[in-house]
Amino acid sequence: MEICRTINELEACLEVEHLKGKSVGLLPTMGALHEGHLSLLQRAKEENDVVVCSIFVNPVQFNNKEDFEKYPRDVEKDERLLEEKGCNIAFVPSADEVYAEPATEQYSFGDLETVMEGSARPGHFNGVATIVKRLFDWTKANRAYFGEKDYQQIAVIKDLVRQFNIPVEIIVCPIFRDADGLATSSRNQRLSADKRSIAPKIHQILSKSYNLKDSLSLSQIKNFVISEFKMYKDFELEYFEIVDAQTLQPLLKKGNNGVIGCIAVWLGGVRLIDNQRYY
Ligand code: PAF
Repeated sequence: MEICRTINELEACLEVEHLKGKSVGLLPTMGALHEGHLSLLQRAKEENDVVVCSIFVNPVQFNNKEDFEKYPRDVEKDERLLEEKGCNIAFVPSADEVYAEPATEQYSFGDLETVMEGSARPGHFNGVATIVKRLFDWTKANRAYFGEKDYQQIAVIKDLVRQFNIPVEIIVCPIFRDADGLATSSRNQRLSADKRSIAPKIHQILSKSYNLKDSLSLSQIKNFVISEFKMYKDFELEYFEIVDAQTLQPLLKKGNNGVIGCIAVWLGGVRLIDNQRYY
């Protein structure tokens, strides 16, 4: 595996592959790699000649300094894992390298960014779009892989691709869950053993609400989920919204598009997100 730490190295490595007509798959990550990332890597390997995995904890997408500082990092372990799993190129730049050109980009995603993560984390999606657009430009990847846990992020990235006509296919991969149902996330590493043992409640409550979908209205489902979380004092619910799966706007009744419930919840000082498709 090649490890590129500068944009020039990355572009040089990939130019050779593009000239040979090889397809390139990109897996953008913030490191602290887990099984979910590895499942995306596996899929990217199956569908592309060359796979690039970027590891970069992107400061401009954090609206909370403490969250940025506490974000788990273990680059050496990540590099070993990527090598072991057959990744071709790891792109591991410093912040000075990525933002030698200052991050002055201003993106706009309309209503997609005014709800849920967008309103809870002002500036977050502008920061995500900034790094993801730069990665697309540097790698000229044919495909890029994202996990469906970050449902709103995918909607924003698809809109970015549409707005700028970027020739990359966005491949959306299902949420990867631990055996007890907790959606894999780098942030899970920060949970104490005690909190980790109750974290699967998030998926359990959402699954329970899914099983009630035929007997409850969407607002009743929303109230059900909110009241379930109130029973567990360890959880602090930041939001649970039932939204149109395409526009991400809150729904009172089912329309023509799909329906998805998205949640952000705090557990022992760690912010976790998940979602549940209803229709
Ligand atoms: O989902 C993530 O890990 C990040 O938001 C991403 C897409 C790597 C951009 O920093």
